[in-house]
Amino acid sequence: MKTRAAAAYEVNGPWVVDEFELRDPGPNELLVKMSFAGLCHSDEHIRMGDFTEAALPMVCGHEGSGIVEYVGDNVRGFAVGDHVAASFIPSCGRCPSCANGEQYLCDNGAEIMAGDTKFIGPRGEVRAMSGIGTFSEYSVVHENSLVPVGDWYPLETVSLCSCGVATGWGSAVNVAQVKAGDTVVIIGTGGIGVNAVQGAAMAGAANVIAVDPVEMKREFAQTMGATHAVASIEEAGPLVQELSWGRGANEVIITVGDATSDLFAPAMGLVGKGGSLTLTSLSDMAQNDISLNTVDFAMSGKHLHGSIYGYCNPRADIPKLLRLYDQGKLKLDELVTQKYSLDDINEGYRALHAGEIIRGLIDYSM
Ligand SMILES: NC(=O)c1ccc[n+]([C@@H]2O[C@H](COP(=O)([O-])OP(=O)(O)OC[C@H]3O[C@@H](n4cnc5c(N)ncnc54)[C@H](O)[C@@H]3O)[C@@H](O)[C@H]2O)c1
Ligand SMILES: [Zn+2]
Ligand SMILES: [Zn+2]
Repeated sequence: MKTRAAAAYEVNGPWVVDEFELRDPGPNELLVKMSFAGLCHSDEHIRMGDFTEAALPMVCGHEGSGIVEYVGDNVRGFAVGDHVAASFIPSCGRCPSCANGEQYLCDNGAEIMAGDTKFIGPRGEVRAMSGIGTFSEYSVVHENSLVPVGDWYPLETVSLCSCGVATGWGSAVNVAQVKAGDTVVIIGTGGIGVNAVQGAAMAGAANVIAVDPVEMKREFAQTMGATHAVASIEEAGPLVQELSWGRGANEVIITVGDATSDLFAPAMGLVGKGGSLTLTSLSDMAQNDISLNTVDFAMSGKHLHGSIYGYCNPRADIPKLLRLYDQGKLKLDELVTQKYSLDDINEGYRALHAGEIIRGLIDYSM
């Protein structure tokens, strides 16, 4: 069948909306009609060549929601008409990581880099990011990369939970393991970071300090659970000392758009004895060096965590987050600053880089 989709063809080139021939679903695959796709910063890392030029061309989009139109052979637990969230890490349920309750480390996650050829367009074959490709009106997706959700949830809310909310909230709750009374610093409060703010507040943190150079982000974070907001890590230093009575932060979480190596020493400087620094942000894959005072790191008993998907198990945690939304405990409607048609995807990402939006959504009804 034919579908329109946004592809990144060359490093730093624009998103190009083309018509593609979408291959038929095979065994264990479903045809999904996308309803919403989230403009996450990770798609931009691919377009900008941070995951190497070899990642391109690619139909991106890994955050999204839709409705099942066709169910392939051997698929279990889905029916036509089901509402689904995309999961950018598949959950096979059988590999050692899945069997160990760590679905965010599923062995099939290698697809996040490799993609999967399913679109044939004017410039040849194009792969789908994470094997999903939510920047397409229709896609063929493996059952392991979809999570069925209740049909009473707004599909735009489901889309938010598919990456940004799960990753941010989980970075605070699951990875950093924020506890009641803690002092927490979130560096970068965009689409991911503001959900780390929500997670830290929900976990009972006494102080949640949002760090972001953009005033709108700082003001918004304070409506989402941040007790304080400052423009830079340098400004956060004395505030953390004051609020923690000189002990330093229990948890610091990096959720900036691009985790450059120079951020690490000052971010780790905010962490107190026995505390942790969590890295959720992505960056150029070629970046191998980070600055760190090694004696302070060792002798203060500090921890450094890598956070993928906020250690969320999509099939358990996406429905859990949606229930928290239903109960009014998680604010999700507020996250959507602007909706765009697929044709306006470049304008959406311009607004992301300009700091004008918290989360932008492609709305396929537009
Ligand atoms: N680990 C994962 O599983 C995972 C999943 C999704 C996204 N990500 C990554 O998370 C990061 C954030 O994504 P997003 O969609 O929220 O992006 P975003 O652009 O919406 O948010 C980034 C925020 O960081 C702020 N910022 C930039 N430089 C800063 C600095 N030096 N100090 C403080 N704040 C700064 C920006 O103003 C912005 O508000 C990206 O790198 C993305 O690729 C990782
Ligand atoms: Zn994402
Ligand atoms: Zn697995």
